[in-house]
Amino acid sequence: MYKVKVISSTIRPGRKGPVIAKWIADVAQKHGFEVELLDLGEINLPLMNEPVHPRLKQYEHEYTKQWSAKIEEADAFIFVTAEYDYSYPAPLKNALEYLVHEWAYKPAGIVSYSIGPFAGVRAISNLKPDLLSLKIIGLAESVTIPAYNQFLNEDDEFVPNELLINSAALMLKELVRWTKGLKAIKEDI
Ligand SMILES: Cc1cc2nc3c(=O)[nH]c(=O)nc-3n(C[C@H](O)[C@H](O)[C@H](O)COP(=O)(O)O)c2cc1C
Repeated sequence: MYKVKVISSTIRPGRKGPVIAKWIADVAQKHGFEVELLDLGEINLPLMNEPVHPRLKQYEHEYTKQWSAKIEEADAFIFVTAEYDYSYPAPLKNALEYLVHEWAYKPAGIVSYSIGPFAGVRAISNLKPDLLSLKIIGLAESVTIPAYNQFLNEDDEFVPNELLINSAALMLKELVRWTKGLKAIKEDI
């Protein structure tokens, strides 16, 4: 069973990221993944403060060691990201910067959302090249959620429409395929 970490990127009090992350985590489970949801708001990494470059893995802080272990055990990722100022939120950039090798040769699906009509697509455009610099392969298929309030019920649960259900299924199908392929590359190092 492949392990996917669903990483929710926003940390502000009242953030909606975990609600959407919970939905895509359930979808990933139905596609055969062993899923863990990682909410950066709970993990609460400070701004990158390791004295040694992360490629050397000489971590000083316990929270870095724990973050490293979580990412190391992953076979794939799903980044759930809002759009902040036409890009992806700073806590995700920070969480990426903490590690190097742990990310490499693993695929990532991206779920973006926004309160307005643009669905976070500019967050995806900015995130993808940064993922590639860490050798994370961002899939062509993504899930983009416009005006997310329309999909929240009175219990604040995410209730997708058919378009979102279909795009999530497509992304997960591709994520399985790429996880299998990249595992072969990773084991060949
Ligand atoms: C600092 C900040 C910047 C934002 N920038 C954008 C933006 O560039 N584009 C957009 O569509 N929405 C933007 N929004 C609105 C977000 O889509 C909305 O607040 C969303 O709920 C943020 O995700 P979160 O609830 O997980 O923090 C911004 C919100 C915040 C707090």
